[in-house]
Amino acid sequence: MQKPQFVTLEGVEGAGKSTQKQVVCELLASRDIPFIETREPGGSPHAEQIRELLLAPSQTPPSDLCELLLMFAARADHIEQTIQPALARGHWVICDRFTDATYAYQGGGRALPAAWIETLERLVHPTFGPDTTILFDVPVDVGLARATQRGTLDRIESEDRAFFERVRASYHAQAASEPARYVVVDATPNADDVSQSLRETLTARWFS
Ligand SMILES: Nc1ncnc2c1ncn2[C@@H]1O[C@H](COP(=O)(O)OP(=O)(O)O)[C@@H](O)[C@H]1O
Ligand SMILES: [Mg+2]
Repeated sequence: MQKPQFVTLEGVEGAGKSTQKQVVCELLASRDIPFIETREPGGSPHAEQIRELLLAPSQTPPSDLCELLLMFAARADHIEQTIQPALARGHWVICDRFTDATYAYQGGGRALPAAWIETLERLVHPTFGPDTTILFDVPVDVGLARATQRGTLDRIESEDRAFFERVRASYHAQAASEPARYVVVDATPNADDVSQSLRETLTARWFS
């Protein structure tokens, strides 16, 4: 039996992370593998409170540095309270966004120095990180159209198109620099086709 895996889902808004998370969960459930589903920002009681602060639409948004620090404050609690205990009791952890999203959104989107994020990453989780990261890759216009159709956009989802182009470019760069950890899925086709190819890719990666 392989050790429980920490799996993160990444991609721009509307890429299909929430939709395809079910595929990952079903794959594990069908093999009787215990798992938890969680998300960032959030995933523990205090981190969920920080999520409210981060995502509530506001006339006076936080400074970029405040946003970055809150992301890592939430993450520190999430790792300690939720992720590591689950892995320790043998559960896989399926997490909607993690530190790669901070590189993409606060580093790419907001153009904060990568060195700042690296410093916080070293502080908050120096030796710990995802075993597999699934990047749902979709053109920004397609993702935004889906997200808009889904409903109201939160504060960060309401950024402009250029912001999300920088987010996507950051994800591409991260996937290219860590090909062993990343699974890149073309999320443009219809949801059933994306699910099918995801199922095949993950089955080959984890169970063959
Ligand atoms: N492959 C797809 N083709 C068309 N619509 C999709 C696809 N995947 C998801 N959707 C729809 O697009 C919206 C955003 O998907 P969602 O899974 O919530 O994305 P994310 O969690 O990445 O923001 C939802 O309404 C969802 O039903
Ligand atoms: Mg989602």
